[in-house]
Amino acid sequence: MPTEVIRVDPLHPQADLIARAAEVLRCGRLVAFPTETVYGLGANALDAGAVRGIFAAKGRPANNPVIVHVAEIACVVDVASTWPKTADQLAAQFWPGPLTLVLLKRDIVPDAVTAGGPTVAVRMPAHPVALALIRAAGVPIAAPSANRSTELSPTRAEHVLRGLDGLIDLVLDSGPTPGGIESTVLDLTSTPPRLLRPGLVTRADIERVIGPIQLAPHTPSAGGALPSPGMLARHYAPRTPLELATDGRQRVEELLAVGDKVGWLTVVDGAMSAGLTRIVMPHDARAYAAALYAALHLLDEGGQDRIVVDTPPSGDEWLAIHDRLRRAAHAEPKKEGPQLSS
Ligand code: TXA
Ligand code: MG
Repeated sequence: MPTEVIRVDPLHPQADLIARAAEVLRCGRLVAFPTETVYGLGANALDAGAVRGIFAAKGRPANNPVIVHVAEIACVVDVASTWPKTADQLAAQFWPGPLTLVLLKRDIVPDAVTAGGPTVAVRMPAHPVALALIRAAGVPIAAPSANRSTELSPTRAEHVLRGLDGLIDLVLDSGPTPGGIESTVLDLTSTPPRLLRPGLVTRADIERVIGPIQLAPHTPSAGGALPSPGMLARHYAPRTPLELATDGRQRVEELLAVGDKVGWLTVVDGAMSAGLTRIVMPHDARAYAAALYAALHLLDEGGQDRIVVDTPPSGDEWLAIHDRLRRAAHAEPKKEGPQLSS
């Protein structure tokens, strides 16, 4: 199936274009759309067949549940059976925005969305196109990031096409997404609440509103239950091998010396040399996050042998960036199957 691309104004989405996309969703088909974090691959969350289509297009294992997107807090009750006080406090503070809340689900939510589990992850995205699309569709929208399973999330429509061209019906192209990395995922069904995936809403931001939370381990214990299926190690990975370096310059020189083509994500400005593509990253964590996937997509497309990333600073606001880079660097060979997720 050819994938249609429609350009939509990011700030003032054209109602006729949104109506067309909403109609595609209502017919049980797939639409990639921008959110304030990354592009999502949307389907009607209440249509099990449509949601299964997301898994097929992405090559995503069925044990990895997807986030349901709503355009109003009042619509959460359509999919979740509980709305604890902490959810109310967090939604008041951070919605619309990059915070996903895991709640107990309603029976109406198909098992395909929740991987058969008792909980559903919900968020209200802060992008005008996403909000307009959800409202026009009139149903909650299930949407993982619009990439093939385990690969880099897309922050531009071109990135979506790179993985999913011909596999989905429609892409709404509204240019780059401002946030750049995926939402924070917080499980409110455990006590204290558990941070399943760090993101642009930081641990400190959350704790200021609801008090102490716990951090999920980075890697599940062998054979143990997964805190979140998407927490598996290799993930968000470019096709080119990526490594984190405490002394990036030295590592780059070593690789260039053996004839490798190297892409280098660094905060140090300087000259290019033969075989080296240097991308100078911002010093500020938010700006770094916004630029990260676009930089990795660019290096991937440039046919590098290796990507070297200077280890970013530590600190709460860098936690999500460390998380994504650690997963991107994970050396496991790529394979599709039930052990991997997206
Ligand atoms: O920013 C985002 O969150 C983007 C945009 C499109 O909204 N979406 C996104 O979805 O990153 P995805 O599917 O790539 O990541 C969703 C994460 C996965 O780690 C998944 O395992 C977890 O949320 N998740 C979804 N439902 C869950 C549930 N019921 N319980 C625990 N974790 C859940
Ligand atoms: Mg994803």
